[in-house]
Amino acid sequence: MLFVEDLDVKGKTVFVRVDFNVPLTDKGEIRNDTRIRASLPTINYLLGKSAKLVLASHLGRPKGKIDPKMSLKPVAKRLAELIGRDVIMASDIVGEEVNKLKSGLKEGDVLLLENVRFHAGETTNDPEFSKKLAEGIDYFVNDAFGSSHRALASVVGITNYVKKSAAGYLMKKEIEYLRKALFSPAKPYVAILGGAKVEDKIPVIENLLNKADTILIGGAMAYTFFKAQGFGTGKSLVEPDKIEIAQKILALAKEKKVRFILPLDNVLAASIESGQVAQIVDSFPFPQDLMGVDIGPKTVARYAEIIAKAKTIVWNGPLGVFETPAFAQGTLEIAQAVAASGALSIVGGGDSIAAVEKAGVSQKITHISTGGGASLEFLANETLPGIEALEKK
Ligand code: 3PG
Repeated sequence: MLFVEDLDVKGKTVFVRVDFNVPLTDKGEIRNDTRIRASLPTINYLLGKSAKLVLASHLGRPKGKIDPKMSLKPVAKRLAELIGRDVIMASDIVGEEVNKLKSGLKEGDVLLLENVRFHAGETTNDPEFSKKLAEGIDYFVNDAFGSSHRALASVVGITNYVKKSAAGYLMKKEIEYLRKALFSPAKPYVAILGGAKVEDKIPVIENLLNKADTILIGGAMAYTFFKAQGFGTGKSLVEPDKIEIAQKILALAKEKKVRFILPLDNVLAASIESGQVAQIVDSFPFPQDLMGVDIGPKTVARYAEIIAKAKTIVWNGPLGVFETPAFAQGTLEIAQAVAASGALSIVGGGDSIAAVEKAGVSQKITHISTGGGASLEFLANETLPGIEALEKK
């Protein structure tokens, strides 16, 4: 795989796929610019080497239709402030007007295309659309780790129509850390997996059972694992169609001698909307009218003990209903424990990142991945469509 530094970019038009899928307020203001900042090393490097830049990203899921609320205009403004130079905002993604803007670029100019998902060809990885994206482009650089688990025209298809393709700095950093966790983790290796659904985590659990020493489970998906063992979980969220696979995972963990630990106690509430803790229990069955919403203090203490001894930690997904303050305690305390561990720690997924930020410990996390879905899929499959596209070139 080529790296951006391997390209001779002076005077060349370089298409950089970034992931500027930032959260916006109702008024269209950027709530968090982390993802824009994360690609600055690549952008500034290319500008320093006198390239002509064409940047592309998606924002939200406009499903092939123009939606002004998902325009990248606010991003162009923020990017201009961050790089201290003008950013030309295109009103489209491909076509004559855009091609004119591309060919008019001078060395050090930056053109930002409109949201690539305003065109249906982006998500279908349409060859015609990919070809149009590549018009007037010499080199392609993928710095959009967060989008590289999807076969998109601006991530995968475009690589077929440019002279060379390479990874940017962010992409390289993400791959390096995740490969470390996959192929050369210092032991003990602890994975912490939370979130609502077992479904999203099955492939990653299956692969981590070959790598990790301990897997700590939290979030609503814990209740499907409890149900799989015949415990009564009251009103808790359970995926009935995943009970069988949950049983297989539990058996596999035993066979592989991986410690697969479920919460020892659970915080229960009448509903998420109630925003109030009803009980904390360390036995089953849960009362019929209550549901699990967080891990309890005994679980926090046990998990923290294991985390303190870890040398490698991978964490994805909150351990409770983190967005509700009364149910965020477990997740926040685990964030503190991960930060205090001194282990190589990799955190991915929007809620887990929000948790380390809220706990004020993000500086102590070795690597905060910009890709939630992408980091999970990388840990499951050990590669991503966007990485494969760069490797085949
Ligand atoms: C993300 O926010 O995880 C990435 O930008 C990918 O977005 P998507 O899930 O809409 O493809």
